[in-house]
This record gives sequence, structure tokens and C-alpha cells, in this order.
Amino acid sequence: MIIAIDGPAASGKGTIARRLAAYFSLPHLDTGLLYRATARVLLDEGSKLDDVEKAVSAARGLALLDFEEERLRGREMGEAASVVGAIPQVRAALIDMQRAFAARPQGAVLDGRDIGTVIAPEARVKIFVTASPEARAQRRALELRGRGEKVDYAAILEDIRKRDKRDAERAEAPLRPAEDAKILDTTDLNIEGAFAAALSIVNGAEAAS
Ligand code: CDP
Repeated sequence: MIIAIDGPAASGKGTIARRLAAYFSLPHLDTGLLYRATARVLLDEGSKLDDVEKAVSAARGLALLDFEEERLRGREMGEAASVVGAIPQVRAALIDMQRAFAARPQGAVLDGRDIGTVIAPEARVKIFVTASPEARAQRRALELRGRGEKVDYAAILEDIRKRDKRDAERAEAPLRPAEDAKILDTTDLNIEGAFAAALSIVNGAEAAS
């Protein structure tokens, strides 16, 4: 069973994906980390984020080591990831590893922006997780504060709006629900509520197949 979870920043998709993966004992790939790790390589070597050649070679050269850093989860890297994620050649360089992950024999859970539309359009279960920008900014603020970052709610809300716009308006694999995705709005749900709603979508899709 492939479970494809997409949605905007801080919608709760990562938490839902992790919980579903644990529940069904499936491997989980947070595809945002691939874009964050690519951006980190560029920032570390002092390259510009829109240098296509450097960005593609960073994406192609990703190694397991690139995923260990706490820094990948920070605010700066989310924004930088959205810049490199808009480069079609970078997306192309990262497709094969994501498709290979989705094709594991026991199935997989992947979360990102284009899992249901581009990476695994064949997935039987597709969930598009969303929430109001204000609710998402509040969650991101809590998360960053928990990790010791200095938090400015207004700046985070601004980041989220900017990132939503860039992700939704890019030419390649823009952020949008697949036609057969179920929309899950988590604005008024806590983690347990969001997980329960996601689980009932998965069970419903399984029963229908
Ligand atoms: O949790 P949050 O949405 O803030 O971050 P993320 O999922 O790690 O994604 C960071 C950025 O990477 C997004 O804003 C997207 O531009 C990009 N991304 C993408 O283009 N495609 C994906 N499958 C995953 C992330």
C-alpha cells in the first residue's frame, strides 16, 4: 500500500505521515528533507540557490550523511528548499530515488508537495492535508520554539504565505491536490484528531478497493 500525503508548510502532513507509517509498519520518506538537504549543500558551499548547475549536482550528490543535521529542520532551510524546489532540473534529479522508495514491495508512506500528482500518481491512498495560514504559523512557531529557535509569529506567517505562493505558482509540480485526493483540513483538529481522520481516509480507501 502506498500512502501519498501532500500539503502546504506546517499543515500537519509530516506528523500524520509518521503516525500512519508507524501504525501500518510502513517505511516513511519525508521528501521535503531532500529539498532541504539540497539547499543546505548550496548554502554551505556559498553557491546561489538559483544556480541550476550547482543545484542539480547538489541534488544528485545527496548522501545519507546529508540528512543528519538538525539545521535542516530550521526556518532558513525551509525557505531555501522552496527556492531550489522550483528548479525543474532539481526535481528531475530527485524523482528516481523517491519513486524507488514508493515502489518498495511492502509499500510506503511519502509526504511532500507532489507525491499524489507526480511521484506516485498510482497510490491508492492520497491525502491532501491543509489548514489556515494562521493555524499553520502558530504550529510552526511552537515547533521552532521547542527546538530553541527565536520565534517571531508575524515573520513566520509571512514566510508561510510566501512559500505557499511560490510552491503553488511554480511551473513544475506545483502544490495542488491530486484529483483523487481526499482533502483533510486540520485547522480545528489536534494531532490525535488529525490522525484519526487520516486513518479513516486510509481505511475507507482500502475498503473501496
Ligand atoms: O514542513 P514544511 O512544509 O515547512 O517543509 P518541507 O515539507 O520540508 O518542504 C520544504 C520546501 O521544500 C517546500 O516549501 C517545497 O518548496 C519543497 N518541497 C517540494 O517542492 N516538493 C516536495 N515533495 C517536498 C518539499
